[in-house]
Amino acid sequence: MTGATARTVEDKSMVNIDYRTLGTDGPLVSTVGLGCNNFGRQGTLTEYQEGTTAVLEAAIELGVTLLDTADMYGGAGTSETLMGVALQGKRDSVVLATKFGHQDYDMGILPGVPKGSRAYIREAVAGSLTRLRTDRIDLYQMHTPDPLTPIAETIAALDELVDEGKILFYGHSNFSAAQIAEAAAAGGRFVSAQDEYSLLARGVEAEVLPAVRAHGLGFLPYFPLQNGLLTGKFTRTQRPADTRIMRQRPYLVEDAPWDVLEAYAAWCEAHGITMLEATFGWMLAQPGLTSVIAGTTKPEQLALNAAASTAWTPTAEEAAEISRLFA
Ligand SMILES: NC(=O)c1ccc[n+]([C@@H]2O[C@H](COP(=O)([O-])OP(=O)(O)OC[C@H]3O[C@@H](n4cnc5c(N)ncnc54)[C@H](OP(=O)(O)O)[C@@H]3O)[C@@H](O)[C@H]2O)c1
Repeated sequence: MTGATARTVEDKSMVNIDYRTLGTDGPLVSTVGLGCNNFGRQGTLTEYQEGTTAVLEAAIELGVTLLDTADMYGGAGTSETLMGVALQGKRDSVVLATKFGHQDYDMGILPGVPKGSRAYIREAVAGSLTRLRTDRIDLYQMHTPDPLTPIAETIAALDELVDEGKILFYGHSNFSAAQIAEAAAAGGRFVSAQDEYSLLARGVEAEVLPAVRAHGLGFLPYFPLQNGLLTGKFTRTQRPADTRIMRQRPYLVEDAPWDVLEAYAAWCEAHGITMLEATFGWMLAQPGLTSVIAGTTKPEQLALNAAASTAWTPTAEEAAEISRLFA
């Protein structure tokens, strides 16, 4: 199989990075982003400050500007806290995106208060600003929809934060197409949507991505590498033990569609590109998609992702061929 390990990045200053506007009205961000849910994650090199700082310093050196975290990542604010320390004095080099209000996670603030309410949002943003050691969040995302709070109340609270300068833009995550339309109809100035999307998870193509495009939102795909399965480092028989997926969810490797992944590996080989380059190239060719926010645990992985983000641009036919392999 053609693997990400087939290439190395010797000199970070030689890596080209592209930038796109997030949706029609959002901030300018690098097309390779950095997912920050590994910061504080047990058993990874980024569990503690040193490993996190190393990855963030690599991001700044490479010109990877979009950092995507959430108040819950790493457990109750840990990712944000580690980032706040690492980014001291470097805050202006990055576009800081975080999230609030995941329905399945309790941050321990205002128990029982709905997470889309004004009261909750004001408490949540204060916590994130403190942990991130900053006076503003560039992109503040509602992590999951709140079934209890009218979206108009959430929008008013977010607009208030924009007026106060505490956040510059806001977005949503895990919204259905109907919820995206409802949020826009209620006057929300959301600039982005974030949902699971990769060659192995294409559910958003039916309704969510068309809604994203119709409303001029930027799109940030989560699990873009399917936990590393789409980097080429796993094969039907080779399963590096020192990986998040083998440590935490080995069944995902066991149950992966190996016939399809082997056909993909052969396609990449035939086109003289690594699987990582094909995966980034295919994703960035999808209309509306702004930045691939892959998570990493090592500076070298980030450098490979950054290089892959501009290494190869598929023709329309090549992108369609890859799509068909995973149909
Ligand atoms: N909005 C939401 O509800 C939501 C949900 C989930 C995630 N997210 C966001 O999406 C981001 C991305 O998701 P994710 O990090 O969980 O999944 P991912 O990007 O699909 O996979 C990341 C994993 O792939 C491996 N990897 C990355 N680059 C590699 C490379 N060049 N070569 C080999 N392996 C590489 C690393 O794991 P190992 O080195 O350990 O193998 C890394 O931890 C998150 O960080 C988070 O910001 C959002």
